Amino acid sequence: MGNPNILDDVFEKFVNEAKVFKDREVLRHDYLPEKLPHREEQIRTLGQAVAPVLKESRCSNIFIYGKTGTGKTAVTKFVLSHLEAKAKEYGSHVRFCYVNCRMMGSEYRVFAALGQSLGLSIPFTGLSVGEVFDRFRTGLDASKTIFIVALDEVDALIKDRGDSILYELTRVNESLHKSKLAIIGISNDLRLKEFLDPRVFSSLSEEEMVFRPYDASELRNILLERSKLGFFDGVLSEAALSVCSALAAAEHGDARRALDLLRVAGEVAERQGFVVINEEHVRDAEKNIEHNKVVEALKNSTLHSKLVLLSVYHLGKTSGASATTGEIYDVYNELCGELGVGPLTQRRLGTLINELDAMGLLNSKVVSMGRYGRTKKIRLEISRSLIQEVFACDSRLERMINYEPKFTAKKQQHHT
Ligand SMILES: Nc1ncnc2c1ncn2[C@@H]1O[C@H](COP(=O)(O)OP(=O)(O)OP(=O)(O)O)[C@@H](O)[C@H]1O
Ligand SMILES: [Mg+2]
Repeated sequence: MGNPNILDDVFEKFVNEAKVFKDREVLRHDYLPEKLPHREEQIRTLGQAVAPVLKESRCSNIFIYGKTGTGKTAVTKFVLSHLEAKAKEYGSHVRFCYVNCRMMGSEYRVFAALGQSLGLSIPFTGLSVGEVFDRFRTGLDASKTIFIVALDEVDALIKDRGDSILYELTRVNESLHKSKLAIIGISNDLRLKEFLDPRVFSSLSEEEMVFRPYDASELRNILLERSKLGFFDGVLSEAALSVCSALAAAEHGDARRALDLLRVAGEVAERQGFVVINEEHVRDAEKNIEHNKVVEALKNSTLHSKLVLLSVYHLGKTSGASATTGEIYDVYNELCGELGVGPLTQRRLGTLINELDAMGLLNSKVVSMGRYGRTKKIRLEISRSLIQEVFACDSRLERMINYEPKFTAKKQQHHT
């Protein structure tokens, strides 16, 4: 009797286990492939720009711009790793340091990372930024090398703290006697120029490179190469490949987005017990990714942004769906009072609303009220259940979801 069940198990296992992914890791963001299709020209240009260091002369500072997911980080790491190998071969005195400024978060940590890569010991805290920089400069000069510093996502640092880090770095050569420094700056914000002192900008961008977005057929090739490494033969259908590339191309040609779609589509297929990824799996993947993005954005918002969202949430329960800034401010004040936190000014709240609007969490629209002028109407751009879901994980805010603001109660009375 029990025999067919044994086979059921065997077959089921065979079909479900590891039939989709050959190597999941190659589909992740930080995987650096050996081939970067459609970036040959950028690789060559950047290679030519840094090549002088093999003969121990300083290379130009280079600034790389391009939208997110256009291969800036991948190309830079690719070129630097090959340069490093060549430098070893020739015995050139070249050192490298790649730093992601957004992850480092502060100038102190960036300078400390640069120093550490030269073998200097710099404590994690305790010195002033100036002191860390001095140690770095002295150590660099003593090392007698050409030092190439790649500052990735440098815009994150500059927008927060101004351009003093770049100012110091671009001028450091003036006080070096035995070493030289060259900078590769990378930014996905094309307006970065506006944040920089013109002198800093001009010395930083002795050479400028722009990475254009990929189109659908380029993305398709990139995905195809990667899928050969990541999936077993025959797993990725033509249709799924086309949809992934088309969706990512529509979203400004972002290869990271395309790879995410591909990986998550594989996961969806795997979970559903499929051995071929089809179009439907890609569509599901897109929904998953969107959902997760919103959840992340919500979770990472500051307390005050969350309170603004909650206020709009409460106001949405009564009159129609949208609220004015004034109404939001009243409810927000009440919530702050309940939680015992000091409220921000109404002006600052207006800024928060604009930020939440830009993030796609709120939707604010200016509507004309005829002879009463114009007013801003604000509503949630995300579902109410999502707010409940995310805020339920935070004990303080959970209480606020079920709280009945007096303001909205009053307003409701007014309406009935
Ligand atoms: N030409 C390419 N061939 C293969 N993979 C690529 C190519 N371009 C980008 N990728 C992959 O796409 C992902 C995103 O690329 P990358 O991290 O280099 O983008 P970026 O321009 O640095 O984006 P951001 O500005 O957001 O940092 C990475 O996983 C990278 O390996
Ligand atoms: Mg990058």
